[in-house]
Amino acid sequence: MHVARIGFIGLGLMGRPMAKRLLAAGHELKVFNRSKAPVEELVRHGAEAAGSPGEAADKSDYTILMLPDSKDVQGVVLGEKGVIYGAKPGSIVIDMSTISPAVEREIYKSLKQRGVGYLDAPVTGGTIGAEQGTLAIMVGGDYEVFKEAEPILRVLGQRIVYMGPSGSGQMTKICNQISVALSLFGACEALLLASKAGLDLDKVIEVISSGAGSSWQLANLGPAIVNRDFRPGFKAEHLMKDLRIALEIGQELNLPLPGTALIHQLFKSLAARGEGALGTQAVVKVLEDLARHTVSRSSGGA
Ligand SMILES: NC(=O)c1ccc[n+]([C@@H]2O[C@H](COP(=O)([O-])OP(=O)(O)OC[C@H]3O[C@@H](n4cnc5c(N)ncnc54)[C@H](OP(=O)(O)O)[C@@H]3O)[C@@H](O)[C@H]2O)c1
Repeated sequence: MHVARIGFIGLGLMGRPMAKRLLAAGHELKVFNRSKAPVEELVRHGAEAAGSPGEAADKSDYTILMLPDSKDVQGVVLGEKGVIYGAKPGSIVIDMSTISPAVEREIYKSLKQRGVGYLDAPVTGGTIGAEQGTLAIMVGGDYEVFKEAEPILRVLGQRIVYMGPSGSGQMTKICNQISVALSLFGACEALLLASKAGLDLDKVIEVISSGAGSSWQLANLGPAIVNRDFRPGFKAEHLMKDLRIALEIGQELNLPLPGTALIHQLFKSLAARGEGALGTQAVVKVLEDLARHTVSRSSGGA
């Protein structure tokens, strides 16, 4: 196997397990994170610590980013001591965060002028997928750059699809997020009705999950809702950000997205309660407030 030198920036819920997989596959990692504790954790696994994003990119063949939002990626790549000042011509920067497709196209142009390849390669599959290397990865950028980066992406994901020019990966991911949010909304409403009607919630999840009403959201987050487990695999504030991007794109394309607009408002309500850092399943709390009913195994009714 060819050992690659990889800079990795953003060691949050997703970045940490992804960086660990790359180390376990035998690659050399130089890591940077805003807070220091995750860096120390990765150093214990064999990574080297970098003092800035630019330093993480310096001498790296690939630099991977896993950050929250567009402004974070812009700052880390183009800002002071940014990746653009460290990345050498011929190297490849891969943004695996979920951000705006338009911002990706701008960053792509800035890096291309310096001879640095840039891919938008957002992922889906959650923290479990990040740990197990089973993510789905949707990639935008130059095809030959994608082919060069593909062996690295294979360490992180199972289904890797080249979507087209810069920004296409993010556009696909935003479509994915509309589907995620609306199927989560469906799962929440179904559980609310099941609870109010006094049905056995575990049986409801089991039987619905094996038929036409099944969804990843119901199967994976339904049990968490029933158990009142709101710890984040995927933070509500990040899905709210994705829906905001979807609505901005809808605005540009003059495309009505009524379902997206509705669930975006529900997430804004959750954030207004100060609960944006909970998992996305916590959006059920907003619906529970409207219904004045809490999803619970003990509620009778039917
Ligand atoms: N979690 C999921 O299931 C999932 C699945 C698919 C895609 N995504 C997407 O992947 C991205 C990362 O998600 P995550 O769940 O890993 O998020 P997270 O747990 O919030 O981690 C974000 C990381 O970015 C760092 N960071 C935040 N703002 C920064 C800034 N301005 N400059 C530099 N570093 C900054 C944070 O550093 P600190 O340690 O200092 O906070 C943290 O290490 C997001 O775009 C999300 O939408 C997430």
